[in-house]
Amino acid sequence: MKAESKSKYFKELLHSSKLEFAMEAHNGLSAKIVEQSGFNAIWASGLSISTSLGLRDHNEMSWTQLADVIEHMATVTSIPIFVDGDTGHGNFNNVRLLIKKLSRVGAAAICLEDKVFPKMNSFINDPRQELVSTDEFCGKIKAAKDSILDDNFQIIARVEALIVGAGMDEALKRATAYNDAGADAILIHSKKNDVSEIIEFVTSWDERCPLVIVPTKYYNTPTQIFRDYGISLVVWANHNLRASIKAMMQASQKIFIEQSIHKIESDISTLDILFDIMNYQELDSAAKKYLPNQKNKNAYAQSN
Ligand code: SPV
Ligand code: MG
Repeated sequence: MKAESKSKYFKELLHSSKLEFAMEAHNGLSAKIVEQSGFNAIWASGLSISTSLGLRDHNEMSWTQLADVIEHMATVTSIPIFVDGDTGHGNFNNVRLLIKKLSRVGAAAICLEDKVFPKMNSFINDPRQELVSTDEFCGKIKAAKDSILDDNFQIIARVEALIVGAGMDEALKRATAYNDAGADAILIHSKKNDVSEIIEFVTSWDERCPLVIVPTKYYNTPTQIFRDYGISLVVWANHNLRASIKAMMQASQKIFIEQSIHKIESDISTLDILFDIMNYQELDSAAKKYLPNQKNKNAYAQSN
């Protein structure tokens, strides 16, 4: 799928009446796994991409590092990528640069959150959970909308009022202002471990524009409830990264203790699975097409 088609497809997903899902990825490999698992969209998580670079979700990763990772992911997949743009990595001017860059490297949509730069991950209890003024954030949304290179590229405004404890009225007021400023959808974030806050918000929101949620903390909510309340998109925000952390820690610890790889073999992916994910077989058919006269020169056959 070409970049413009990906953004068009994502826009359709976001505005359809059906509940859709975006699954987290943080590099080319995890993006391919998300696509091969059947998902229609990828969430390029700031937390996960930073962590995979060994950096904290406190804007330690630069926006060009983010763009490089998005380019890797977009190059090797054909489903849309919804990018976590944090605060836009600065003021309205940084937002403009970021939007253009992300569009050029193949992203389909961006989420911008209304915290001050450098932001702190929403689930860390920290005094640095601070909101920018509504006016300043509306300016960022307008700058984002004015910078898009492709009309289908979606700008999702993320409301952090419930995260910082500013209350439901503030959350609704801000969401309304962001929508009026041109946001195509609202991501309403909550760190409560039940869905009550989200339901209260949705009930008052009255379908002004599509809503996106990230149920990391209220993970025990049945997905049907999200459907019943008319949520448009659920982001499974960090589960590939967390799955890989546990698997890598177990593998490293076991091999370190055993000083052998004998006992780990049955716990880890086979090399054949790796080759399948990467579609080495495709090299065979490509070689037949593009190197028809060079027998036995295909890489896959030689590696076996
Ligand atoms: C991310 O995945 O980086 C997010 C979602 O912003 S969360 O970490 O849940 O706030
Ligand atoms: Mg994030």
